[in-house]
Amino acid sequence: MSISIKVMEGIAASSWVVKIFDGRSQFVSKEQEVYDFRLGNPKIEPPLKFAEELKKVADNPFPGMHGYSALAGHVQTREAIAKTLSKERGLPFTAQHVIMTSGGAGALNIILKAILNPGDEVIVLSPLYLEYPYYIDNHGGVCCLVETNADFTLNINNLAAKITPRTKAVIVNSPNNPTGMIYSDESLKSMARLLGDKNRQVGNDIFLIYDAAYQDIVYDGNKLPDIFNIYSNTIFAASYSKPLSIPGERIGYAAIHPAMKISGELIEALIFANRVLGYLSAPVLMQHVITNLQGVCVDRAEYQERRDMFCNALQDFGYSVTRPMGAYYIFPETPGDDLVFTQELDKEGILVLPGKSFGRSGYIRIAFCVKKETIKKSLPGFKKVMDRFR
Ligand SMILES: Cc1ncc(COP(=O)(O)O)c(C=O)c1O
Repeated sequence: MSISIKVMEGIAASSWVVKIFDGRSQFVSKEQEVYDFRLGNPKIEPPLKFAEELKKVADNPFPGMHGYSALAGHVQTREAIAKTLSKERGLPFTAQHVIMTSGGAGALNIILKAILNPGDEVIVLSPLYLEYPYYIDNHGGVCCLVETNADFTLNINNLAAKITPRTKAVIVNSPNNPTGMIYSDESLKSMARLLGDKNRQVGNDIFLIYDAAYQDIVYDGNKLPDIFNIYSNTIFAASYSKPLSIPGERIGYAAIHPAMKISGELIEALIFANRVLGYLSAPVLMQHVITNLQGVCVDRAEYQERRDMFCNALQDFGYSVTRPMGAYYIFPETPGDDLVFTQELDKEGILVLPGKSFGRSGYIRIAFCVKKETIKKSLPGFKKVMDRFR
């Protein structure tokens, strides 16, 4: 009897992820208070409208309500999403361009399954969401990392250097986990021009997979560039986990640009991938619940308040911080090795993740989707550790 070598390697390389979900720490005793900033599992409760809609659905049962939905998802749900996308983007989305998925992660996996042949390359901008390389590998692809600039903005030259005739897709996550960066309209347009040039040279259209997990968590009135109006080969992976604070409910969707040449075949491929990856239909109860919750989001001001409280304090203590424009992570630089710094924080009961896990050493990732109290109480520990290093 044996376990897959690749899986064993994956477990060894990311065993700490399991510990995070279990809420365990390396150094802290059971008695010591723990401030856990490792997981993007929001401690802000879902908006009231979510509970209302959930109750409405539960109070109005109908025959077959808990059966499988169509593999692409309920038509009414997909129509509601298409209507919102059409209104926001000014493009003719219909239910035929939308497929319901098991969260954003499910969307990313069916997209990759649908488009990749063995050995196809997928470009990922680094720092990156740490699951991408595994998702790409799940479907026989090869992950190619492209470094962003020191301030996490796009580096078009780095991107151009990594595109080859085997490049099948580029994944863009904005607002970004772990940096909070929103890639500018201008930089995404440069990227689109570059991809367009490469498409013409190679005669093989590169997909842009836009991971929109944090599209609603945006601060200071920042506007997200409209990727659908920038690049027509876009496949969108969206999720209700973050806007509605319901990551455990596993609901999201994939949407494809209405003008994409192969939109019909691609939707068929996504439906097939949803089936054979064993998701079948996305969680049906949630499909009903979110139908009337398009555009509903937790109070962003709550997150912004936490961001400001945290960033101001860290800056006062001497941390070098790029204030996140969206999402709910801070990615400060560490003086010296990020693994050592992470361990020192751990000894103070502060749990964060080393930047190395996100493709950039010399940083730590702090998830601030926690109670304000947790942030406040942790601050002396952050100061103490920085003082030790200065
Ligand atoms: C960048 C990014 N993409 C996708 C996901 C997956 O989210 P979910 O599957 O809960 O929708 C996450 C979760 O944290 C994320 O941070």
